Amino acid sequence: MKIDVLSIGSFPEATNTELAQRFAVTRYLQRPGPDALGADLKNRVRGIATEANRGADRALIAALPKLEVIAVFGVGTDAVDLAAARERNIPVTNTPGILGDEVADLAIGLMLASARQILFADRYVRDGSWASKGPIPLGRSVGGKTMGVLGLGGIGRATAERGVALRMRVIYSGPRRKADVPYEYVADPVELARRSDYLMVACKGGPETRHLVSAAVIDALGPKGTLVNVARGSVVDEHALIAALAEGRLGHAALDVFESAPHPSPELLKLPNVIVQPHHGSATVETRTAIGRLMIDNLSAHFGGRPLLTPVL
Ligand code: 8YV
Repeated sequence: MKIDVLSIGSFPEATNTELAQRFAVTRYLQRPGPDALGADLKNRVRGIATEANRGADRALIAALPKLEVIAVFGVGTDAVDLAAARERNIPVTNTPGILGDEVADLAIGLMLASARQILFADRYVRDGSWASKGPIPLGRSVGGKTMGVLGLGGIGRATAERGVALRMRVIYSGPRRKADVPYEYVADPVELARRSDYLMVACKGGPETRHLVSAAVIDALGPKGTLVNVARGSVVDEHALIAALAEGRLGHAALDVFESAPHPSPELLKLPNVIVQPHHGSATVETRTAIGRLMIDNLSAHFGGRPLLTPVL
């Protein structure tokens, strides 16, 4: 008899196929409320495979009396109620060490797209403005500028390395100084923002970092500054961000994540100095397939009685 596993979110085809070969999978695109699961299923489910941004909340965990393991598809565990899992000794795994380069590529793409107006310029050619109005207004350089990285984990490090390759000065902030990097540590995020031209948000989500990019950080980044967020919408005070962008107190923003995904604030979307993306930092075939593989390997290790590969709890 195959072990019952809930699959929550959308995974690459290879991941879906392999999950279904190994387990009895019930799939949900969104995290199901406890009432969406039949009584039979609730009593059978022993594992959850869940996209990082959908996680597993307390109500879902409580509804599954036989639950033994939660395997997250991605690195962030902020959408999993870790306290609820800990209370029941349910291990949680994630997929570190796989997606940093991919998300950093998008962070750099967003920085360049904003600085060099790539999305605006594309529309400018297509709508005939190039022919009728001539060259576009001048963009902004990245070379020679300062990149501030907020959170020097896997994504932050990969972003910093790319910043160096672009001949940027890299500084960083985070809960602690890292001994193995050549970049200057700036403990205070406001000071980091004050010294940055491009502030790259790459820290984890969750209560500890909620609104870490506060009104004060945004004001310190200033009218010539650009905020790039590939982390979590919750890290940025979006209300303060919108006000600062609208009033010209912040220059630009390039965002892959929002406080209210997948419905970003309409006020934000009206602003010309913002570019937006649909939370797809890790979304390539190669990386998402590798994420799926590690998630399944963790599930298989658990049910095979072997040590978990990448436990969080
Ligand atoms: C996930 C992410 O793939 O890893 C994370 O924390 O946010 C993404 O890389 C996420 O599940 C995307 O849906």
